[in-house]
Amino acid sequence: MHRRITVPGALAAACLLLAIPASAASHSPGAPGIGDPYYPDYGNGGYDVSHYDLRLKYQPATDELEGTATIEARTTQDLSSFDLDFLLDVSEVRVNGAKAAFTTSGQHELVVTPRTPLDKGTPVTVVVRYRGVPSTKSAYGFTTWHRTPDGAVAADEPEAAWWWFPSNDHPLDKATYDVSVAVPDGTQAISNGTLQSTSSKLGWTRYNWRQNKPQATYLATLALGKFDITTGTSEGGVPVVNAYSKDLGDNDGAARASVERTGELVDWLSGYFGPYPFASAGGYVPNTTTGYALETQTRVYYSPKQFANGSNASVVVHELAHQWYGDSVSLKGWKDIWINEGFARYAQWLWSEHEGEGTTQELADYVYASHPADDAFWTVKPGDPGPDNQFDAAVYDRGALAIQALRNAIGDDAFFAVLKGWPQRHAYGNASVADFQKYAEQVSGKPLAALFDTWLFQPSKPAAPAARAAALAPGRTAPARPESWRRIEATNDVHAR
Ligand code: TRP
Ligand code: ZN
Repeated sequence: MHRRITVPGALAAACLLLAIPASAASHSPGAPGIGDPYYPDYGNGGYDVSHYDLRLKYQPATDELEGTATIEARTTQDLSSFDLDFLLDVSEVRVNGAKAAFTTSGQHELVVTPRTPLDKGTPVTVVVRYRGVPSTKSAYGFTTWHRTPDGAVAADEPEAAWWWFPSNDHPLDKATYDVSVAVPDGTQAISNGTLQSTSSKLGWTRYNWRQNKPQATYLATLALGKFDITTGTSEGGVPVVNAYSKDLGDNDGAARASVERTGELVDWLSGYFGPYPFASAGGYVPNTTTGYALETQTRVYYSPKQFANGSNASVVVHELAHQWYGDSVSLKGWKDIWINEGFARYAQWLWSEHEGEGTTQELADYVYASHPADDAFWTVKPGDPGPDNQFDAAVYDRGALAIQALRNAIGDDAFFAVLKGWPQRHAYGNASVADFQKYAEQVSGKPLAALFDTWLFQPSKPAAPAARAAALAPGRTAPARPESWRRIEATNDVHAR
C-alpha cells in the first residue's frame, strides 16, 4: 500500500550502509501552521486528513480521557516530520505501523518523526495513543474543555479539538469521523452524525457515532454526561437526534420547546438554502455555565442560558443555518468568517419576517440607523475583521446588513438563487468572501466589487448615497426597534469563555 522509495543502485547501497533514509535530503519538516494569518500556528502543513477514527474512554468522576486516534491522511509534500495539534499526554505514535519518535513544541504542537521519511502524495496511517485530564490542560492560558457536574463538553470556536483528539486543526482540512466513546453505564456520550450502535460491558457503555460527510475539526463535538436523548424524523425526511442534560432545572422546558423544533426548522431553511446537507440533524443542551450556542456539525451545541428567557427558535434557526453556511461550505481562512456569521444572522432575519416580528428590511434599516457614524461598530470590517474582532457584533449585524444591501441591489430573484445555489456550488468544501462575490456576480450578471467594498471592507459607515443606492433608509432618526431584535442579539452571547 505504501510506495517504496526508489533510488539508483549505488546510492541505495550507500544509504543502506549508512542507515540514512534514501531520499531524506529532499524531505523536510511539515510547517507547524497551515498558513492562516489570523492564527499562524493553527493546523499544520504537509498532509491532508481524510478520516479520524477516535476510540475513547471517559471517566466523569475524574475527568480522565484515554484513547487511540487513528488518522488516515495523505502527504502533500516530502515529509521528514509533521505536526499534529494536541494537548493531552501521548504514550505512543505509529506511522504506517512503525513506532515513530515524537515530542511537543510551541503551545499545542505534537511533532512526529516517522522512522522512514514520507514521500509526497502517499497515504499515511497515524496511530496516536493518549490519555490525560483535559481540564488540566491549557494553551495560550485558556482552556475550552467545559466540565459539568456530571461530565464534560468539547465545543468551542475556533479551538476545541486540542483537548480531546490530535488533529490538523483548521477548517481547510475537513475529514469524516468515527467517534466511539465508552462511559460508565448511566452516562451518555453525544457526538456528531448518526449513532451507529451502542453496547454495554462490565459497567461501561460504548457509543459509536459516525459523521460520514467532511467536517471541520472545530465542528467536531463531544459531550459526556447524563442526557435524555430524543429521536425523530422531520416532515421532509431528515433524521433528528437531540439530547438534554437531565440537570437543566428551570430551563428544561424552554430548551425542549426550542430544540425539539429542529426538524421543522431544518425543513423551513431547506426552502431557502436547498436540501439539508447531512444524514442527521439535532442539538444538545448540556448543563454548562457558558452562554453561547455553536453550530457543531449535525449536533448543535446550546448553552442552557440561551433558553433562560423562554423558548428561542431564533437561535435554533441561526445554528441550523450554519449547517449550510459554515459547516457544509466552510471558510477558507478565518478572515472569511462573514461566510458563516453574516448568513446565519440573515437567516434569523428571515425567521423574524416569517414570524411577523420585523422584516429583513426593517432589521437592516434598524442596524444602519441605530449606529451613528462615529460608533466603533463601523470600524470593524465584516469581510476581514481581524482575529480580535472575529466574532464582533458587527460581523453579524453589519454582515447581515450587507446581505440585505446585496439583495436590494440584485433583486429578489437573483438573490434567492444565490442563497440556494451557493451551498450546492461549494457543498462539503471551502470558500472565501471573494468566492462569494464572484458567485453573486455570476448569478446576477452585475458587477458587485463596489457594493462588497462599501458594505464589507470599509472601516466606516457607508454614507447616505450608498445606503440610498442599496435601498436602505438613511434617515437621521432610528426606525423603531423590531420586536425580534433582542432575541436575535442574545445569540451573540458568545464571548465569555
Ligand atoms: N459561531 C457561534 C455562533 O454564532 C458563536 C461563537 C463565536 C462561539 N465564538 C465562539 C461559540 C466561541 C463558542 C465559542 O453560533
Ligand atoms: Zn453563528
